[in-house]
Amino acid sequence: MDLQLSGRVAVVTGASKGIGLAVTRTLLGEGVRVVAASRKSTPELDALTGDLVHVPADLMDPEAPGQIVERAVSEFGGLDILVNNAGGPPPGVALPRFSFMAPTDEDWRVMFEFNLFSVVRAVRAAITPMLARGGGSIVNISSGSARLPAPMNVDYNAAKAGLNNLAKALSEEFAPQGIRVNTVSPGPVRTAWWTESGGAADIIAAQAGTDRDSVIEQVAPEMMKLSTGRLVDPQEIADVVALLASPRSASTTGADFAVDGGFLKQI
Ligand SMILES: NC(=O)c1ccc[n+]([C@@H]2O[C@H](COP(=O)([O-])OP(=O)(O)OC[C@H]3O[C@@H](n4cnc5c(N)ncnc54)[C@H](OP(=O)(O)O)[C@@H]3O)[C@@H](O)[C@H]2O)c1
Repeated sequence: MDLQLSGRVAVVTGASKGIGLAVTRTLLGEGVRVVAASRKSTPELDALTGDLVHVPADLMDPEAPGQIVERAVSEFGGLDILVNNAGGPPPGVALPRFSFMAPTDEDWRVMFEFNLFSVVRAVRAAITPMLARGGGSIVNISSGSARLPAPMNVDYNAAKAGLNNLAKALSEEFAPQGIRVNTVSPGPVRTAWWTESGGAADIIAAQAGTDRDSVIEQVAPEMMKLSTGRLVDPQEIADVVALLASPRSASTTGADFAVDGGFLKQI
């Protein structure tokens, strides 16, 4: 299937690793010109070929989203696609946290800064250049947890629930002007968030009295009742993002796609 993405311009946040890296690689493979934002680049990002610009940016800085979008316009002449992928544990934070009593006011504030307010700012910056092109596609990476409230990561889940709500509101306002807004809600994905030292797998391993690899291969899929029995691969998220970015999805807006191995059980 030709996704008709060749020559379009995208901004991808959190593009140096994990899901964002897979999205960047996939869009480049479709001929998209990509502005990739993260605090630092990685050898994996640097190794990608195509029309790619890395913008070093800290999304905890309220000015950063606007600067990233400006760079897309100055470098590639406009903006067609915005993938708000950066999110998860804010800088310096490790998740999961196991109780509502764990996060402080400051924890709640930085969680919302990173997972919701940075997206608000990126969308605000993107609307005008997208309208100048006659429309565009915005894809927000949320989480299955947004629709499954639980004591674990209560602040993260609430921020992602806000993100889902925001996407629906944006889709209502801007569909008549050609901008589509959709959400992709992953289940647990095999990225640094889980696999790095001190990451989610290590935290759960300490609780469960096991090791990191056992958590990734067995404990987490069982704990999260994944029907597929395994964590999601970042590429499986990226493929859905590419389809939503494409004009082939011209009638898809305000939708939320679970790519979660069967994590969400409700219809
Ligand atoms: N992995 C999962 O299990 C899972 C599940 C559900 C939803 N999600 C969602 O999927 C998205 C991506 O998660 P991931 O697991 O792929 O993350 P990841 O592998 O940890 O990568 C995070 C990316 O965000 C960048 N980043 C981190 N802090 C940043 C900051 N302050 N400013 C700019 N960029 C920053 C990182 O680069 P730098 O560190 O260089 O800045 C990196 O490129 C998030 O929205 C997350 O909530 C993930």
